[in-house]
Amino acid sequence: MSAAVRVGVLASGRGSNFESLLGASRDGTLGAQVVCLVCDNPQAGALAIASGADVPAMVVDPGSRRARLAPEVEERIVGALRKHGVQLVCLAGFMRIVGPTLLAAFPGAILNIHPSLLPSFPGLDAQAQALAHGVKVSGCTVHFVDAGVDSGPIVLQEAVEVLDGDTPQTLAARILEREHRIYPRAVRLWATGRLEIRGRRVHIRPASPTPAD
Ligand code: GRF
Repeated sequence: MSAAVRVGVLASGRGSNFESLLGASRDGTLGAQVVCLVCDNPQAGALAIASGADVPAMVVDPGSRRARLAPEVEERIVGALRKHGVQLVCLAGFMRIVGPTLLAAFPGAILNIHPSLLPSFPGLDAQAQALAHGVKVSGCTVHFVDAGVDSGPIVLQEAVEVLDGDTPQTLAARILEREHRIYPRAVRLWATGRLEIRGRRVHIRPASPTPAD
């Protein structure tokens, strides 16, 4: 049996998606192993989760650039991920646009979770954008990361009904429950070699039969 795919998570904040990936890693349902966390924010809640779970974590100083990291900062992140033998990078509330250095280091191997049904409402405050637009259904998306903002090929999506009384917070909370379901599923699909990108479309290959079948 081959060694489990090694996953590195990049996060900037609370860390609930990191926690859900870690939980699935530990209970075996991820089909992969979360081996490290990298944060660009020393206050990130994800860091406390990592320390409580004995997952190696590091903070990179993002420097003065805001939305995009400088190439040398991305080099440091790549170095940290390589040190832990990372094969798949999962962005989990990482508030930066990934640049060419990271993309080139992990081709086809960076996933992101976004709290809307892309291509609707990319970027910041997706739940507030959905409410302001008046959509009746929103949701979440796991996608491959490319050079754009939330624009890469889509792996999985799940829909969430928008209710009349919703605020950005109540909608976000219901979407988050679904995020915690689909992100581990998407990672498992990647880790078991079942994803194939053809242009914009991601095809999911059937699971190979287990020896018992
Ligand atoms: C999630 O809603 C995720 O979809 C978005 O940022 C939020 C991160 O939340 N990219 P958490 O830090 O994982 O709790």
